[in-house]
Amino acid sequence: MVSHWPIGLDALAYGGDYNPEQWPKPVWQEDVHLMREAGVTMVSVGIFSWALLEPEPGQYDFGWLDDLLDLLHDNGIRADLATPTAVPPAWFYERHPDALPVTREGVRYTFGGRGAICHSSPAYQQAAVSIAEQLGRRYATHPAVALWHVHNEYSVPVSACYCDTSAAAFRRWLADRYTTVKQLNEAWGTTFWGQTYGSWDQVSPPRLTPTVCNPAQQLDWARFTSDELLANFKRERDVLHTLSPGIPVTTNFQAALSQCETLDYWTWAPEVDLVTNDHYLVAEADRNHVNLAMAADITRSLAGGRPWLLLEHSTSAVNWQPRNIAKRAGEMARNSLGHVARGSDGAMFFQWRASRAGAEKFHSAMRPHAGTDSRIWREVVRLGRDLGALEAVRGSRVTADIAMLWDWQSWWAQRLEWRPSVDLDARERADAWYAAAYDRHLTVDFAHPEADLRGYPLVVVPALYAMTDTAATNLRRYVEDGGVLLVSCFSGIVDEHDAIHPGPHPGALRDVLGLVVEEFTPLRAGERVSLGDGLSGDVWTEIVARRGAAAVLSYVDGPGAGGPAITRNKLGRGTAWYVSTRLAADGLGAVLRKVASDAQLPARDLPRDVEVVERVGEEARYLFVVNHTSEDASIPVGERAVELLTEETHAGSVRVPAGAVRVVAEPLA
Ligand code: GAL
Repeated sequence: MVSHWPIGLDALAYGGDYNPEQWPKPVWQEDVHLMREAGVTMVSVGIFSWALLEPEPGQYDFGWLDDLLDLLHDNGIRADLATPTAVPPAWFYERHPDALPVTREGVRYTFGGRGAICHSSPAYQQAAVSIAEQLGRRYATHPAVALWHVHNEYSVPVSACYCDTSAAAFRRWLADRYTTVKQLNEAWGTTFWGQTYGSWDQVSPPRLTPTVCNPAQQLDWARFTSDELLANFKRERDVLHTLSPGIPVTTNFQAALSQCETLDYWTWAPEVDLVTNDHYLVAEADRNHVNLAMAADITRSLAGGRPWLLLEHSTSAVNWQPRNIAKRAGEMARNSLGHVARGSDGAMFFQWRASRAGAEKFHSAMRPHAGTDSRIWREVVRLGRDLGALEAVRGSRVTADIAMLWDWQSWWAQRLEWRPSVDLDARERADAWYAAAYDRHLTVDFAHPEADLRGYPLVVVPALYAMTDTAATNLRRYVEDGGVLLVSCFSGIVDEHDAIHPGPHPGALRDVLGLVVEEFTPLRAGERVSLGDGLSGDVWTEIVARRGAAAVLSYVDGPGAGGPAITRNKLGRGTAWYVSTRLAADGLGAVLRKVASDAQLPARDLPRDVEVVERVGEEARYLFVVNHTSEDASIPVGERAVELLTEETHAGSVRVPAGAVRVVAEPLA
């Protein structure tokens, strides 16, 4: 039985990517000394070390890694040991130039950055398995090794490759899915624009075409790409499972990154032993802690509610954004503990020691260029102490209030060309509805549209353009059984092949919502419509005809003036709400308030940026309070509360200073 937690790690995970190969050995001694001072419990090693481990084809140099793992073990630090397959060595590309990926435009990348991989290349696949075998054989029983870290952030920076080898793999994937070319033609609707295929050989990746390429073809290509990368992960994972039974295998996700949505993590998550995630703030964004909370909630949901692990974030600035804003005093701790609040059993960073050379030398680190007489170092030491004080939290589960549906495949479909409006973006709506829930202190679980939703008093569908019949049935049953469903505009429109569901829109949701959409009436840039009650919408409106639903608010002006804008439908024992326009934050808040009252969700009387999340363990519940405001806050607690970071006891309430985090434990019985 494979463990779901790093072997032998009897603490919350604390540490970072450790790349000591950049430094002479005396620095390693200083590093482990400082790691102990900071309370580091685990580091990730070897992530980009293929060229050092296999300097010539088939010739290995493991001496330095032996020394490193021994050193870590001697100092009580666990190792998350990586397979270095995100960066094959220069000699590999010299031998296999075809393994460099090709862009949609037909341009082949060159070596010199990282992650230049054609995932369908047999040469790459063999080489990756072979270095994983070498590592698995050598280190299976090394006492430092707690976790295997396969590759690094699959899909970053390249996921799809459009070369001929990938095209052949795509055809095999399609043949598996559709069995006959006739069925592929039907699924892709190729009678339109005369695209009918006569044989598999005629089918290509969606390379450059003079105008829009068949959308179903593009959608299947996106699925194929996610599957192709997953197959490579599984190849390495299986090798490691065989050679080092019992040691869990992970690969670090980037579950909420809006620029990197090329992997369907719902299919990936069941394949890893421990779900791990990397998260970086959009440094300049207003209230970027909301996106952090969302990333953590998505990751926990991918883990099925089990604890997960934040494998990378930053102590301060990153180096790859336009303006790399440094974190302010206390922000790192709020970020790290914000992830722990939402189920991460630890907080790890990129990286331990700031690099002197290479592309990431301006990236912050745990041990910064400024050395130990620095704010960052003092905060790193303090965070290590705080995580030590939270030991009891390990293994406890987050209590969620509501569910939100999330589907990468639907987004791939919605993002294709020629939609009714370029201004309506699925991810923007997901972020906006999530923020509305955050502002009401509702903890959100994310769910796949076909997942079991029973038990959630409220399910929000922020943007689900593509929906299968199974998902539609799932939502209908959820409402009939007493659930409250809130659906946002342009959802339930097409099936999994990007074909419109039969009949009027929204085909998958008409019955449950008790309405039809006669016409989409998107707005001009900057145009706004009023819904009365002080609410307004922009970007998108619809001509909605009621078929049983009641109008809660109607359009006062705009193309749909006089018609329903927000509706509520009773179905079975439940209720389904529909919002047919793009509401701004105040409108989302107002609607959510009404819907939350239908779902009988309690209201919490706290400032919106005082984040409150509960984890429940076997003996105690832990209330995490992250105060993102510049005012102290007071939180009601029970009569026997212990604050774990200050070790103070409280009865009735706990004061959380401005910018601080508090974790209040209360016994369950
Ligand atoms: C991550 C990556 C790390 C490092 C980091 C910088 O996406 O896994 O290797 O590049 O970004 O923020």
